[in-house]
Amino acid sequence: MFQQYKFLSLERNMSDTSVKISVLPNGPLVVKGDFELSDADGKTWDLSGKPAVYLCRCGASQNRPFCDGGHKGAGFQCSATPAS
Ligand code: FES
Repeated sequence: MFQQYKFLSLERNMSDTSVKISVLPNGPLVVKGDFELSDADGKTWDLSGKPAVYLCRCGASQNRPFCDGGHKGAGFQCSATPAS
C-alpha cells in the first residue's frame, strides 16, 4: 500500500506557468519562477527577492528544506535523468 508523506509543498501561481524545477547532479533541486513554498501546516517561507531556491534532496542540510552545501560533505551521489 502506498503511503504518502507530506513534508512541504510547492504551489505554482496559476497566473504564471513558468516554474522550472531542475535536478542538479549529486545536489539539490533548483526551483525558479513564481511559486509558494509551504510546510505541512501551510506556513510559507518568505522567498521574496529570491530568483531561485535550492531544495535539499540529500537530507544533510542544517537549513532544510534548503540546501546548504552539506551534500558535498555527506558524499551524496545521485544523478537523475528522464527515461528516454
Ligand atoms: S542537497 Fe545540498 S545539502 Fe542536501
